[in-house]
Amino acid sequence: MTHVSLVTGASSGIGYHIARELALRGEPVVLVSRDPEGIQAVATELSKEFGVDAWGFGFDLTDQDSRKELVHAIESHDLQIKYLVNNAGFGNYGPLAETDIQKELAMIELNDSALVELCYLAIPHMKKIGYGRILNVASTAAFIPGPLMAVYYATKAFVLSFSAALREELIDETISVTTLCPGPTRSRFQEHANLEESKLFSNESRLPTAESVAEFAVEELMKGSGIVSPGIGNKLTIWVSRFVPRSLAAKMVKQFQAKK
Ligand SMILES: NC(=O)c1ccc[n+]([C@@H]2O[C@H](COP(=O)([O-])OP(=O)(O)OC[C@H]3O[C@@H](n4cnc5c(N)ncnc54)[C@H](OP(=O)(O)O)[C@@H]3O)[C@@H](O)[C@H]2O)c1
Repeated sequence: MTHVSLVTGASSGIGYHIARELALRGEPVVLVSRDPEGIQAVATELSKEFGVDAWGFGFDLTDQDSRKELVHAIESHDLQIKYLVNNAGFGNYGPLAETDIQKELAMIELNDSALVELCYLAIPHMKKIGYGRILNVASTAAFIPGPLMAVYYATKAFVLSFSAALREELIDETISVTTLCPGPTRSRFQEHANLEESKLFSNESRLPTAESVAEFAVEELMKGSGIVSPGIGNKLTIWVSRFVPRSLAAKMVKQFQAKK
């Protein structure tokens, strides 16, 4: 029985670099994204570069049956999940009234429902092993309301609250739950969220790389940390958010995220 790290959304951005960091540490990895060939190519790349076993599975995690099929596939390969990285997620820019509601609902399904269900399905593996670590990717957006990306910010607030609660539920097991809260990071996220029009990402070259965020994330995952955020600017945003009334925070975020 091989103990593996399951990383969702490992074909690009933060998830891709988290998978690389884990493989670099000699961890066998199971990688997931929607495109079966693309994710298998990443698995082959990591296997060759780091000499670890790596599997790539193409599943759309917005679909509940696919989530179950994924864990079934893992079990049928005689693998057990030791580390779970719930990273796959996306956002969508624009006022709710003008948005594609199916995209918003799929976002809730991926960012929240899939994350909950994969924790639920992986915890029995970790209990059997007697050890486990979970990394749930939230955002600095989790701490504030986000006009013009209202659903996305709310999905991340859910991740933050759920993960802190789950951490406490598992405190007597040797299973930790870490919540990663990055701020804006260079990746394909902006393109998928149609954020090119927003002021928030106007200075993309000055944003931290997905690689640096992933390196920080895996260090914190291994330490079993609680809620963590890379970079002093993000830490400051989170700290200040405690003292700002929600109505004022909403006004400020609306300004930051307005069209260029
Ligand atoms: N970049 C930022 O500014 C930022 C800031 C804070 C938090 N985050 C969070 O960080 C996480 C990673 O985002 P990123 O910035 O690395 O974005 P990204 O480059 O767009 O990566 C997203 C990953 O999720 C996968 N994915 C998307 N939909 C999926 C689905 N339905 N089923 C399975 N996999 C799916 C994508 O692969 P396919 O498209 O091939 O399926 C890709 O591998 C997300 O949870 C995001 O909310 C990002």
